[in-house]
Amino acid sequence: MSSQPFDDIAQLTLSNVPSEHMSIAQHSDGRWEDCVLKPYAPIEMQPLALGLHYAQIVFEGMKAYRYDNGDVAVFRIEKHHERFNKSLARMCMPEIPLSHFRDGIVDLVRADRSWVPPGPDSAFYIRPFVIANEERMGIKVSDDYLFMVVGGPFRPLYARPLRVRMERVFARAVAGGTGFAKCAGNYAAAMLPTQLAQQDGFDQVIWTDAKEHRVVEESGTMNVMFVIDGVIVTPALTDTILDGVTRDSVLTIARDLGLPISERMITVDDLAEGLRAGRVTEAFGVGTAAAVAPIGRIAIDTEEFALPVLPTDTMFTLKNHLNAIRYGQAPDVHGWMTVI
Ligand code: COI
Repeated sequence: MSSQPFDDIAQLTLSNVPSEHMSIAQHSDGRWEDCVLKPYAPIEMQPLALGLHYAQIVFEGMKAYRYDNGDVAVFRIEKHHERFNKSLARMCMPEIPLSHFRDGIVDLVRADRSWVPPGPDSAFYIRPFVIANEERMGIKVSDDYLFMVVGGPFRPLYARPLRVRMERVFARAVAGGTGFAKCAGNYAAAMLPTQLAQQDGFDQVIWTDAKEHRVVEESGTMNVMFVIDGVIVTPALTDTILDGVTRDSVLTIARDLGLPISERMITVDDLAEGLRAGRVTEAFGVGTAAAVAPIGRIAIDTEEFALPVLPTDTMFTLKNHLNAIRYGQAPDVHGWMTVI
């Protein structure tokens, strides 16, 4: 893969253009070896590697930002590491020490720092992942694993306000299942319903509970937030909802600013009633790849509601404050940034 100045690819969203290096560590005999930095290249796996068949695969999505002064910093390594280990534990995979996780990321970003584009909105997307690597036909918990970190330059996934559909047929996660884990299977299972919604002209679905399709959970690739009667409302975390790092960061910023927030159960009926009455004034998604993405239209069964996106929206206040920290324009009061 030849090196490419990010100017040429600044127009891309989550791109297919990897940077020049990758970090890799093996797990065998019950322990993680140290991370090694290598040129980005295909990896060798046996066709019978367990992860390829039984989906013991867990990943994270993170970003590094270029400060206005040229420094490069990674956002919330510890919080992502905490979630990574929760996902690994749910999939019977060995947790990874913070030192390995941090080394893999820092080594990659340090080596490829020229690939970190300047803002606004652009970033270097970082994808740590673990895959089961034991060669075995029968199903079992793998004894061997690969941890890798790859990355590439990035612009937000959604460039314009989204049109979303409340999902009333398919389910993403069930109570007691893997919904809270960032495991590959969750994303595979979401593909058909998302594709069907996209064929009907929607960008994404909003998932509802698997049993009755009555309770709002999250949107594809992002957590979801609403402004209802002036309060920022988001579904409370359960085992069917991903504990989003952007979700947590936006809520922290809202608290810092003294904005009212409520983490609670939201039913589809209450949301529809609030939309009809004009009490729901904003909807937006929050996620690493999505960033803070306005939702301009929500379809619920046979009704479709338009939500005008205004520059005065609370969503932009939250986004601007978050970006100010990420691009080094405001003090990092919560210790979120690791300058490389
Ligand atoms: C992220 O936001 O980083 C994600 O992992 C979502 C992804 C599937 C694009």
